Amino acid sequence: VIEHKIDSILELMTVKEKVGQMVQYNGSFDVTGAPSDIDSKTKLEKLKNGEVGSMLNVLTSKATREAQQVVMEHSRLKIPLLFGYDVIHGYKTMFPVPLGESASWDLEAMKLSASIAAKETAAAGVHWTFAPMIDVSRDARWGRIMEGAGEDPYLNSVIGVARIKGFQGGDLADIATIAACAKHFAGYGFAEAGRDYNTVNVGESELQNAILMPFKAASEAGVATFMNSFNEIDGVPSTASNYLQRDLLKGDWDYKGFMVSDWGSIAELISHGYAKDKMQAGELAVVAGSDMDMEGRVYEEALEPLVAENKIEEALLDDAVRRILRVKFHLGLFEDPYKYSDAQREKEVLLAKEHLEAARDIARKSIVLLKNESEVLPLKKDVKSIAVIGPLADDTDSPLGNWRAQADKNSAVSVLEGIKNVVGNNAQINYAKGADLGMGERSFLMPLTINETDTSGFTEAVAAAENSEVVVMVLGEDAFQTGEGRSQTGIQLRGVQQELLDAVLEVNDNIVLVLMNGRPLDLSKPNEQVPAILETWFLGSEAGNAIADVLFGDYNPSGKLPVSFPRNVGQEPLYYNQKNTGRPSSTMVTYSGYQDGSREALFPFGYGLSYTTFEYGKLQLSASEFSGDSSIELSVKITNTGNVAGKETVQLYIHDLVASRTRPVKELRDFRQVTLEPGATQTVSFTISPKTLAFYTANRVWEAEAGEFDVMIGGNSVDLQKATFQYKN
Ligand code: IFM
Repeated sequence: VIEHKIDSILELMTVKEKVGQMVQYNGSFDVTGAPSDIDSKTKLEKLKNGEVGSMLNVLTSKATREAQQVVMEHSRLKIPLLFGYDVIHGYKTMFPVPLGESASWDLEAMKLSASIAAKETAAAGVHWTFAPMIDVSRDARWGRIMEGAGEDPYLNSVIGVARIKGFQGGDLADIATIAACAKHFAGYGFAEAGRDYNTVNVGESELQNAILMPFKAASEAGVATFMNSFNEIDGVPSTASNYLQRDLLKGDWDYKGFMVSDWGSIAELISHGYAKDKMQAGELAVVAGSDMDMEGRVYEEALEPLVAENKIEEALLDDAVRRILRVKFHLGLFEDPYKYSDAQREKEVLLAKEHLEAARDIARKSIVLLKNESEVLPLKKDVKSIAVIGPLADDTDSPLGNWRAQADKNSAVSVLEGIKNVVGNNAQINYAKGADLGMGERSFLMPLTINETDTSGFTEAVAAAENSEVVVMVLGEDAFQTGEGRSQTGIQLRGVQQELLDAVLEVNDNIVLVLMNGRPLDLSKPNEQVPAILETWFLGSEAGNAIADVLFGDYNPSGKLPVSFPRNVGQEPLYYNQKNTGRPSSTMVTYSGYQDGSREALFPFGYGLSYTTFEYGKLQLSASEFSGDSSIELSVKITNTGNVAGKETVQLYIHDLVASRTRPVKELRDFRQVTLEPGATQTVSFTISPKTLAFYTANRVWEAEAGEFDVMIGGNSVDLQKATFQYKN
C-alpha cells in the first residue's frame, strides 16, 4: 500500500520537489558541524517551497511543530519534514557513552537505554537519531572510539542490533520510537594513525569481515537509514562509492531504507580531489546512491540541472525520494505530521524518574574492575576517612561525555556526591581537586585547553591523602578529549595528572584509581603504582551514584573491556583478533614483535574482574566433528568460588586454522552472561553451527569452510581453554 501511495506522490512531484526531499538543512548552529551559511529567511522560503525534506538539530516539541507547520501550511504537496538529531547516548537523561555501555555486554540493558533515549527524543518532536555508530574501532588515538562498541566486529554487530531495536521498537509509527541510522558506512574507524577523517586503506577481506559485518547485521535488523562516511577507501570516498552503496547495500543486501550523507561529505568530494566542482560532486554522489545531502548544499544546486542536461536519469531521484518517503510513511508522518511534537508529553517524559533509575543501573553494569590487589575494594562502609582527589572527582560535567545531546551542563552526579550519598556523615571526606584538567570553554566545536603546568593544588591534595584511611583518585580525560575531531597522538593521563598521582602516593599508597575516559588509556605506570583501578568511562547522568554503588560493594562489578588497553601508544592500533602472520612472536629478533616492549595488551579485550571469582570446569564438546547444516554443542560449568554473588560473561572464540583467506587467531562468536550466588554452579551451553564459523571467503560470500577449528572459552580473550573440532561441508 505504501509503495502505491509513494507512486502517486512521485507522479505529482516536479524535479525541484524531488530534489527538495533529498536536501537536509541544519536548524541550529550550537550543537554540531560547521555553522550554516544560509540565512533564516532563505531557509524559510525553501521550506515553504517544498525544497527541504529534512532538518537536523531542530529541537523541542515547539520548534519542530513550528517548522513542520511552515511546510504543511505553505508547500504545494505538504510532504512532512523529517527531523534528525545525534542522540548517541541519551537525549536529556544521559546513559554511558557507547564504548562504556558496551562494556556491560548486556544487550537487553543497551536496548533499554536506546528505547528510553528514543522515548525522550520522540517526545521532543524528533523522529530520527544518527545512531548507532557501528564502526569497528581499533585505534585508541581516534577520538570517536568512544561512540562505538570497540574493536570487535561481532560485538559491534550484536550491540548495534540491540540499539537499533531499542530505538525503533517493533513499530516505527509508535510515538515512543524513532528511526535509527547505521553509521558511518564505511571504514571510518580505520582512519590511518587514528587521525579523524583520515584515509583508509583496507583489502577486501578486512573490509568485509571486520568493517562491514556490523553493517550487514544492521541492514538485516531493519535499520531505517544508513549514513555514509567522510573517509575514502582505496582512493574512493565512501560518499561516492558505487560499490558500497549501490552494489553491496542496495544490491546484494537488498536494503530498502535511505542513505544520508555525513555533514557536507558530498561537497567534500571536491576537497578529496575526486570531483572538480559541485556539479560533478552531485553527480557522483547521486549515482553512487547517496540519497540525502546533509548540509552539503550540493544537491539543491546540482541535481536539477543534471537532470535537465540528461547527465543523470530522473529515475535516480525517484529511487532516492521513494526511500525517503518510505521512512516518513513508516513513522506515520503522513497521517499526522505533528504526532511527535507534544509539549505535554515532552514535559512528562524528559528526565523521568524511571529513566534516571535505568541510567544508574546500566552505568553500574558498564564499570570494569581492572585491578584489585589485597581486596582494597569494596570499601568498608564504616571507613573513618576517605580522601577524594582529582580534577574529575567533583566534576558534574565530564561524566556526561561528548555527544551529550540535550543534557544540561553540570547535570551529572559527581563521584564526590555519589560517595557522600553512601557514607553520609559517618566518614570524614577530605576532598581536594588537586589540579584542573580541561580549562576554559568546553563545547562540541571548541578545541580543549589542558592544564599542563598549574600544580598549585597539589599541597591540599597531599594533605587530604595524608589524613585519610583510603584515597579515591578520580583521573582520566575531560569529556571533550574524545568525540569527533578529538584524535590524540598520546593516550597517557594528560596534563599534570600523573604528577598529582605521584605526589599523593608519597603519603598514602592505599589508592583506588577511578578512571573516566572515552578511549583506552596507557595505564602502564599507574598500574604499577596503585592497588585498585576502576574503569568508569563517562557514565552519564547517574555516574557518581553508580560508581559509589561499585566502590562500596552495593553492586559487584561485571563489565568486560570491549577494547584492548595497550601498554603504550606505540602498540596502536592494537586489537586481540589479529592474524598470526608468517612469524608469530617469539623472543628471537626476526619475529613479529617489538624490541623495546611487549606486543600484548596490558588489559586485554573481554577482560574485567569481579569481587568474586569464577572457576571454569572442563570444556565439553558434544562431538569432535560435524557437517553441512548440522551443529555441535559446547558446554562448560561455571562456579562462583567467592563469597558474594556475581555476574560472569562467558566468551566463545574460534580460530579457523587454515582458510581461503587467513583468519584471526581468535574471533569472538558468542557470549552468555550468568549470575551466580556464592558456591553456585551453572552449565553454560553454546551451539556451534556453520553460522558460527562463517566468514567472507575467497568465493566472495559468507560461508563456513571445511577444515579444523579451535574453539576457545573463558572470561576474557587471553585466559581461555581450548578444544578442536572438524567441520565438513
Ligand atoms: O551524525 C553526525 C556524524 O556522525 C558526524 N558529522 C555530523 C553528523 C550530524 O551531526
